[in-house]
Amino acid sequence: MVKKLIAGNWKMNGSLAANEALLAELLQGLGQPGCDVAVAVPAVYVGQVQALLQGSAIALAAQDVSAHDGGAYTGEVSAPMLRDFAVRYALVGHSERRQYHGETDALVATKAQKALAAGITPIVCVGETLAEREAGQTEAVVKRQLAAVIHAVGACVTEIVVAYEPVWAIGTGKTASPEQAQAVHAVLRAQLAAASTQAAKVPVLYGGSMNAGNAEQLLAQPDIDGGLIGGASLKAQDFLKIIAAAA
Ligand code: G3P
Repeated sequence: MVKKLIAGNWKMNGSLAANEALLAELLQGLGQPGCDVAVAVPAVYVGQVQALLQGSAIALAAQDVSAHDGGAYTGEVSAPMLRDFAVRYALVGHSERRQYHGETDALVATKAQKALAAGITPIVCVGETLAEREAGQTEAVVKRQLAAVIHAVGACVTEIVVAYEPVWAIGTGKTASPEQAQAVHAVLRAQLAAASTQAAKVPVLYGGSMNAGNAEQLLAQPDIDGGLIGGASLKAQDFLKIIAAAA
């Protein structure tokens, strides 16, 4: 049984004061979580959050990682730099970066490789747009996105995490039904199983308006191994309820 992972994605939210208050409330209510927990924070706050999480059960995650190891890439942050701050996970290919920064499947695959090379677990985000779903392309899209990473990382495929985030459910309150989510997770699980006999080890998270009210039903699905939480991760009590549902 894979231990579930609940990862918060703060996106471009927070401040020194707000981060301190949120994490203080989260750590006060966390106890001994029955699942793995991580928070993905803006790069500028990695140092502050590393210090605040020191010795806690919450792992530090980055929201992106450069496809390069260093050099003339203004504004980017390399995997070795993140490793300097004990970053454990890195989101790669989040739909907002694919949409706003034109990230391609090939670029996402290289980012996953760079994370792995630095000892950081990539959380590979895949998901279809509403137009793609309505055109019946959901399976083709998510399999294409994941295939690029599987091809690039080879035997290291057992060291990645996958997050299925239907774009139409992100930030909209329109969560995929447990059945809709499970159907896609089963496709991703089969794709991983074709790549490795150890595929069962690869957590497949759901993201897209998961909240305190629907987490239990989603997490009860056989191939949903956790959640990637946006808005609800910015409210300590809601995030704690989702963590409790994953125990
Ligand atoms: O990466 C998680 C995020 O995309 C989901 O956002 O606000 O729908 O939980 P939200």
